[in-house]
Amino acid sequence: MSDADVNAPNSSLFERLAAGAPAPIAVDPVTLVIFGGAGDLVHRKLLPALYNLHLDGLLPPRTAIVGVGRPLMTDDKYREFAKDGVTHFSRRPVDDAAWSGFAESLFFVGGSLEDPAVFAALGSRLDIVEHDRGLPGNRIYYLAVPPAMFAPIVDQLGRARFVGPSSAERFSRLVVEKPIGRDLASAQAINDAIAKAFEERQIYRIDHYLGKETVQNILVLRFANSIFEPLFNQRYVDHVQITVAEEEGVGTRAKYYEQAGALRDMVQNHLLQLVAMIALEPPHSLDADVIRDEKLEVLQSLRPIDGDAVDAQVVRAQYAAGFVLGKGVPGYREETDVASGSRTETFVALQMFIDNWRWAGVPFFLRTGKRLPKRASEISVQLKDVPPILFNRDRSEPIDPDVLTIRIQPDEGFALGINSKIPGPRVRIYPVKMDFRYSSTFGATSPEAYERLLLDVMAGDATLFMRRDAVEAAWRWVMPVLERWQERAGDPLPAYPAGEWGPPEADRLIEATGRRWRQP
Ligand code: BG6
Repeated sequence: MSDADVNAPNSSLFERLAAGAPAPIAVDPVTLVIFGGAGDLVHRKLLPALYNLHLDGLLPPRTAIVGVGRPLMTDDKYREFAKDGVTHFSRRPVDDAAWSGFAESLFFVGGSLEDPAVFAALGSRLDIVEHDRGLPGNRIYYLAVPPAMFAPIVDQLGRARFVGPSSAERFSRLVVEKPIGRDLASAQAINDAIAKAFEERQIYRIDHYLGKETVQNILVLRFANSIFEPLFNQRYVDHVQITVAEEEGVGTRAKYYEQAGALRDMVQNHLLQLVAMIALEPPHSLDADVIRDEKLEVLQSLRPIDGDAVDAQVVRAQYAAGFVLGKGVPGYREETDVASGSRTETFVALQMFIDNWRWAGVPFFLRTGKRLPKRASEISVQLKDVPPILFNRDRSEPIDPDVLTIRIQPDEGFALGINSKIPGPRVRIYPVKMDFRYSSTFGATSPEAYERLLLDVMAGDATLFMRRDAVEAAWRWVMPVLERWQERAGDPLPAYPAGEWGPPEADRLIEATGRRWRQP
């Protein structure tokens, strides 16, 4: 392998899948250093994901996982912290024999991440751990910390030479969690700061939606079948809806969420990534950058929504007290750490267009919110009505349009809604569904998004990660909306009772175009 190859993506996940290889492939021994190692994300997601990789024998041999963070924990305490996270959040239970092997790979270095002395201690600890475990010094640095910490940590990593020059023997990679900034300027500042120590090909920006099985399956559904792709364009598609609904409220994350809101937290990243996956042109190969180029094209083709158009096309709202699954829950402003007069939106619905040849004139309706009636994320592609010639003549009883629904979560799968004749002497039409469910076809639970993503970073496969240009293109599109909202800070903010599908304004947004939200 040449110097240039060492940090470059290996064959992409999709190439491996296409070649029939069991994905993912074996990877080189590695040391994973997690900044913010005792935080919530690590407890709930990363450690359970790593444990599941270990259970499946997919972690590279002798892997070391070194948490770094403020609490002064011993390795043993860190192992207890990890076990607690795995017990509560792993998709599979703790197996005692497997656990002891996993626990041995866990280490912790405590101290303030603002203190250079911690980096000195970390450096020595890594040398010892790698020596003891016979690791070659391949390093993955994972920033599971608030964005304000990204630049100072990367600065220390650069200075203390944690990021060695690329060599054929060793690699260094950086994993960055969202949010990448809170607007375009801060995202650019973060990207500039991390670029001082890492080259773009060494940087893996996580959007965990891209690691979901069902999201990966969008490309397979579109390009491994000949039935859908000819229909995926403005000639046949009436509109596309994307709903990402959560029944949970803000929980314990209000300090962050108060500064973010649903547009920054969900739309700028997860929903726009879903738009890109469903709308992209067929890539000419499965190479990571070819796919990422096509996604960028979509983001760059989004028609800007600015000025008055924001008022007409974007609805924001906040949940009030209500009932979710029959249980009374407080309104957003009553949640811990939320200001009593907070104007942070917990719901967004919008209509957007992609100004390219394929999608010209096809509306895309997006909505996302917390404290909606249930957790359900799906994309539906609704086809145009058949002409009113044979079966669609009675305007008072139109037949249902055909719809392809991709269920991202839960109940992963997809369904094709089509029309059929009801048996009998009269011609009566009834909408029926062809339904595919992962659980009944493939059985066992699918791997969590973080399992796939962590393994891909280890394998050097960047397909499912966001490139700098895509992150910035998404912010560029979101900015005029944020700016308009700031200008109109005195406008009333619609409310919706917890447990309902957003405010009436969201229904009016779509109904004004003669369409309706589909209820997942
Ligand atoms: C995160 C957001 O990125 O995604 C959270 O910050 C949100 O606010 C979460 O709850 C939703 O992820 P998932 O995988 O549960 O749909």
